Amino acid sequence: MNRILEVKDLHASVDGVAILKGVDLIINPGEIHAIMGPNGSGKSTLSNVLMGHPSYKVESGDILFKGESILDWTTDERARKGMFLSFQYPTALPGITIPNFFRTVLKSIRGEDIPMREFKKELKDGMKELEMPEEFLKRYVNDGFSGGEKKRTEILQMSLIKPALAILDETDSGLDIDALRIVSQGITNAKSPDRSILLITHYQRMLNYVVPDFIHVFAKGRIIKTGDKDLALELEKSGYDGILEKAGLNV
Ligand SMILES: Nc1ncnc2c1ncn2[C@@H]1O[C@H](COP(=O)(O)OP(=O)(O)OP(=O)(O)O)[C@@H](O)[C@H]1O
Ligand SMILES: [Mg+2]
Repeated sequence: MNRILEVKDLHASVDGVAILKGVDLIINPGEIHAIMGPNGSGKSTLSNVLMGHPSYKVESGDILFKGESILDWTTDERARKGMFLSFQYPTALPGITIPNFFRTVLKSIRGEDIPMREFKKELKDGMKELEMPEEFLKRYVNDGFSGGEKKRTEILQMSLIKPALAILDETDSGLDIDALRIVSQGITNAKSPDRSILLITHYQRMLNYVVPDFIHVFAKGRIIKTGDKDLALELEKSGYDGILEKAGLNV
């Protein structure tokens, strides 16, 4: 069995409030899964719980990464073993330049220093792909970045880290039309047999560029429906209410 991620009947809470209420999800190597769902349904909570954010408490159920239960692993361990989360709201790191930050991150994840020349080449290639001007090499991470620039920086980080599982939380929000295409291309380029992607999005349009193998509808703390890319079109038409009603959950 070579599953990348298996989430089993996961229940989790924050500050004593139950948010995840029985999430089941299986992701195999190389697959792209999209999660769509109403605001406040628990999508970001799921990403945070998968990454082991300390504010969230797993009440029951399990998370297996490459077949191993990771509930006891710290966020750091999860990252080193190949999990990556791109945040819905990336934070600024004033005083820390992009090259310095990324080199430190890569060193901690790979467990060894990368020769400067090699690192610079990887970084510049990644920036070129995402059409980020070289002046960003001098900028502090996310400091004063526009929404779209922050999202590109997240994807740049993913392309350098090359995680086995990338969780991208609303990487498309706030992107202009060109940036959406560029960032989507960056995500599509990251697709490989040894990389799986979990993409949280509100918009069907991103899925025109990044074609998911599965789309899950997330509502009321769990996945209520799974389908292929056409499910996004159905959602556009019927809205979440229609789907919830069919699932008998519109109470
Ligand atoms: N510390 C907290 N205390 C109480 N409730 C919280 C806390 N953090 C999150 N929640 C609640 O958990 C619910 C799920 O939030 P979450 O951010 O996971 O939603 P989401 O599906 O990502 O929404 P969006 O589409 O708006 O990003 C929300 O109702 C939120 O208010
Ligand atoms: Mg969210």
